[in-house]
Amino acid sequence: MKCHNPLLLIVFFFISQFSVAEENVEQKINAILSQMTLKEKIGQLNQLNARFPDQNLFEAIKKGQVGSVINVEDSALLTKMQRMAVSETRLGIPLLMGRDVIHGYKTIFPIPVGLAATFNTDLVKKGSRVAAMEATEVGIRWTMGPMMDISRDARWGRIAESFGEDVYLTTQMAVAVVNGFQDNDLTKHTSMAACAKHFIGYGATEGGRDYNSTNIPERQLRNVYLPPFEASIKAGCASVMTSFNDNDGIPSTGNKFLLRDILRTEWSFDGVVVADWNSVNEMINHGFCKNESEAAEIAINAGLDMDMVSEAYLNHLEKLVKMEKVSEETIDNAVRNILRLKFKLNLFGQPFVPKTNSVKAYSTVYLQAAQQAASESFVLLKNENNTLPFKTTIKKIAIIGPMADAPHDQLGTWSLDGEKSHTIMPYKALTEMYGGQVEFLYEKTLGFSRDNNKSKFKNAVKQAKKADVIVAFIGEESILTGEAHSLAELNLQGVQSDLIKELKKTGKPLVLVIMAGRPLTIMNEVAQADAVLYVWHPGTMGGPAIADMLFGKTNPSGKLPVTFPKYVGQIPFHYNHNMTGRPASKRETLLNDIPLEPRQSSLGCTSYYLDAGFDPLFPFGFGLSYSSFEYSNLQLSTTLMTVYDSLTAKATIKNTSDVDGYEVVQLYVRDLVGSIARPVKELKGFQKIYLKAGDSKTVEFILKASDLAFYGLDLTKKTEPGDFDIWIGKNSEEGLKGKFSVK
Ligand code: GLC
Repeated sequence: MKCHNPLLLIVFFFISQFSVAEENVEQKINAILSQMTLKEKIGQLNQLNARFPDQNLFEAIKKGQVGSVINVEDSALLTKMQRMAVSETRLGIPLLMGRDVIHGYKTIFPIPVGLAATFNTDLVKKGSRVAAMEATEVGIRWTMGPMMDISRDARWGRIAESFGEDVYLTTQMAVAVVNGFQDNDLTKHTSMAACAKHFIGYGATEGGRDYNSTNIPERQLRNVYLPPFEASIKAGCASVMTSFNDNDGIPSTGNKFLLRDILRTEWSFDGVVVADWNSVNEMINHGFCKNESEAAEIAINAGLDMDMVSEAYLNHLEKLVKMEKVSEETIDNAVRNILRLKFKLNLFGQPFVPKTNSVKAYSTVYLQAAQQAASESFVLLKNENNTLPFKTTIKKIAIIGPMADAPHDQLGTWSLDGEKSHTIMPYKALTEMYGGQVEFLYEKTLGFSRDNNKSKFKNAVKQAKKADVIVAFIGEESILTGEAHSLAELNLQGVQSDLIKELKKTGKPLVLVIMAGRPLTIMNEVAQADAVLYVWHPGTMGGPAIADMLFGKTNPSGKLPVTFPKYVGQIPFHYNHNMTGRPASKRETLLNDIPLEPRQSSLGCTSYYLDAGFDPLFPFGFGLSYSSFEYSNLQLSTTLMTVYDSLTAKATIKNTSDVDGYEVVQLYVRDLVGSIARPVKELKGFQKIYLKAGDSKTVEFILKASDLAFYGLDLTKKTEPGDFDIWIGKNSEEGLKGKFSVK
């Protein structure tokens, strides 16, 4: 085709380069594949645990029986194994080195639920880039993250590693982490392949009990649980991990509808699908497979590429191919996906960490990023009488409680390679940073969150009585959160609640700083406190971040990514629930107001609890600041748009205080009538803005009609015409309300 437009020539050149590069990879894959024996192909599908490396592992690598290892903890060992794969096997195919680098490698950032509370995707992306820089420095090129399970049950320990209950927030955070890990070019040796997990619906585990069944119908899968994965894959996420749960009786690892129809056919995913730990074999426990051979057969035919440590593929696939229960083409396609990732990572070109690497773990810039993330993750839940930040009149501060000095727990779950020796704890930070202006009176009182020993209570009260203000550091040990750590009760562990009562009796102003991996049922403790700062498990730099916030050098800006229930009995509890046919009016008759022997109908007929009402303790999106922000003048560019249009919604936000600060401005909508019942509210946008004292800013959101699309009665995704409510506000319960329609 003759082309006279030079610009177009350039465009054609780049397109051709891209497709040539892509074509090259496929050619290279086929070239290797054509040389591989069936045994060598099956070896690529096998991932082994390298936590306790031994001769058996090394022999397996040399025989070409291993495509990837996970849990390598030592750089020299990693290099040794990679050299075996590259130099001592027939075809020299490099290994994929995997590791759970979730919220930091050495420099540990806040746990993901805390990162979500920042509502700052740039900051979260930056934190993931730091993690990738430190991890790739030792040769880890594949991380088992981000976890993007929508989590609406705080009994589930893994809510700690989620981005919370909301689809939009989780999606934004997941994409930010994928981009942070992978950078914009996987071939760079400082890039780390990401893994979208756990596919799918694991956060809806029945009863919040880990590994339990889920029962999510397809429509809800598509409207709630799949969006973060689809967006991550569209953003180039290199791999996906199947989840432990059986959904409606089908374990994800053997679910063809998920792994082939959705991932491959609908989303054209060309990356690697890896099983979660031993989950191929666990299909036997599920009663979904009768033995290991059948587990291997069902998994490979369902579309699982790599078997994480169960060795079912290694033990049975060759026989299954000979028995024609599994075609060699199926094996070839799985191998292609794995080789494609190895090429994308340039492992064939550069299997080892270049000597030129000058990344230094815990470098100042990384620690500063971790402190900034911690600071922005903190959520100020209460601040009566402006107890915080401390005024210069405060001269004596009592530091009480187990989490004031908990270097291991402060790092949170999934901080495998973080070293507690690098953790800066609140007590250490406070004394070093503010000990010159304030006297700190310290009594840890309890050794750890579950401690039942009250012997130090007397001393704690003594210190408290001498102080102008008490800061109690309470919460939960990190081991009580994360995988396999579900709780049936969410009250504070041990005798922490009794300690708060004793401190309250002193009559001194009481500040609670709560380190936890999930919402806890802290209604009574909040009632006794003058101020409450929720800091999640804040990571390596949590101490300095807390110290600066208590003294007002930083201003809280975090917002809750999860609803805080008053009682564990309210769970599952999330803001974006359906209206029901009898929505609570919040004027219901509560337990103590029930007359004796009332007629049955007198108790009101709405969806609430006699003993708990309907409200959460704190709603999604909630978080206070040392500043105060006023919202006014909601304006819509139109109140009527077609399904192809968009509208602009804007409002003016004014910082009415004398303190500069960040505010997370949130955009919510409600689809009033749909082909199916729709949530009472859905987050569709957020902007974190910085406002100097007294300043105002008009914040604009562009809402496309396509942002309102959902899978309706006919299971197709579309925007349905109708009327909508819209809010711009500071949390999911407070906002300026408007209306518009889609025709
Ligand atoms: C674990 C977790 C998963 C993790 C994997 C490897 O059981 O479920 O999130 O990535 O095994 O450690």
